[in-house]
Amino acid sequence: MSAFNEERVLSVHHWTDRLFSFTTTRDAALRFSNGHFTMIGLRVDGKPLLRAYSIASANYEDHLEFLSIKVDDGPLTSRLQHIRVGDSIVVGRKPTGTLVVDYLLPGRRLYMLATGTGLAPFMSIVRDPATYEKFEHIVLVHGVRKVDELAYHDLLVEHLPSHEFLGDIVSSQLHYYPTVTREEYRHMGRITDLIESGKLCSDLCMPGLDPAEDRVMICGSPAMLRDLKHLLERRGFAEGNTSVPGDYVIERAFADQ
Ligand code: A2P
Repeated sequence: MSAFNEERVLSVHHWTDRLFSFTTTRDAALRFSNGHFTMIGLRVDGKPLLRAYSIASANYEDHLEFLSIKVDDGPLTSRLQHIRVGDSIVVGRKPTGTLVVDYLLPGRRLYMLATGTGLAPFMSIVRDPATYEKFEHIVLVHGVRKVDELAYHDLLVEHLPSHEFLGDIVSSQLHYYPTVTREEYRHMGRITDLIESGKLCSDLCMPGLDPAEDRVMICGSPAMLRDLKHLLERRGFAEGNTSVPGDYVIERAFADQ
C-alpha cells in the first residue's frame, strides 16, 4: 500500500500575499491526534515533492485543513500557492508529532504559543472538546509581524464562541491573545518579551508562568522555539515527548525548513 493518499482541494483562502490556507478531502481511514503534522505536497514530474505540515482541522472533521506560507523561490510553496479547487494534493498516511495534549502532565492552564504558521496545530487543538476537559483555561497566543497575518482571527473571536457544540466551553475557557510586532495593534511585542515582562499574564489576569500549574505547547520558527525553550527551562519547566510527558512540548519537525 502506498504511503500517501491523493486528495482533492475543496477550498483555498488567501489571507495575505505571504499566507494562505486550504482544505482537502480526507480519506476515511486516515487517523491522527489533534496537533499532529503529516507530509503533504504535489507531484512534480511524477515524483512527490513534500513538506511537513500541521493539520489545522480537528480529527472529527471529514475534511483536512492546512495553513501555509508562500515563498516565491520555495520548491513546494511556489507551486502550492497556486492550487485551485479540484486540484490533487498528496497527503501522507502517517500523521505524527509531539504537540499532543497527552504528552503533557496534568495542569490547570494550557498555554499554546505560536508565531506565523505555527498557529496551525493549535487550530486543531482548540476545536477538540477533550482539550477543555483536561485544562481549566486554554490560552492561545499568536505572534505575527502585521495585523493581516492574524489568520483565523475571526474564527477564534466570533465563530468558535458561537459554535453550536463548542461555543459554551470556548467562551468560558479559551483566551485568545493575538500580538503584532511591526504595526500598531491592541497587543504588541514578541511572545518572549511579553512573558519576560509579565505583560502577557497580567493582561490575561493570570499568575506568572509556573510549572506547578501551567503547561505549554510551542510552535514557530527555529529562533522562537530556541528562545522560548530557554525561557521555560530557566523557570523550571521540563520538556515532554512522545514517550515521557512533561510540562511543555515543542514541534521540531519544521525546524530545518
Ligand atoms: P519580529 O517582527 O520582532 O521579528 P516571522 O514572520 O519572521 O516568522 O515572524 C513572526 C513573528 O514572530 C513576528 O512577530 C516576529 O517578531 C516574531 N519572532 C521572530 N523571532 C522570534 C523569537 N526568537 N522569539 C519570539 N518571537 C519571534
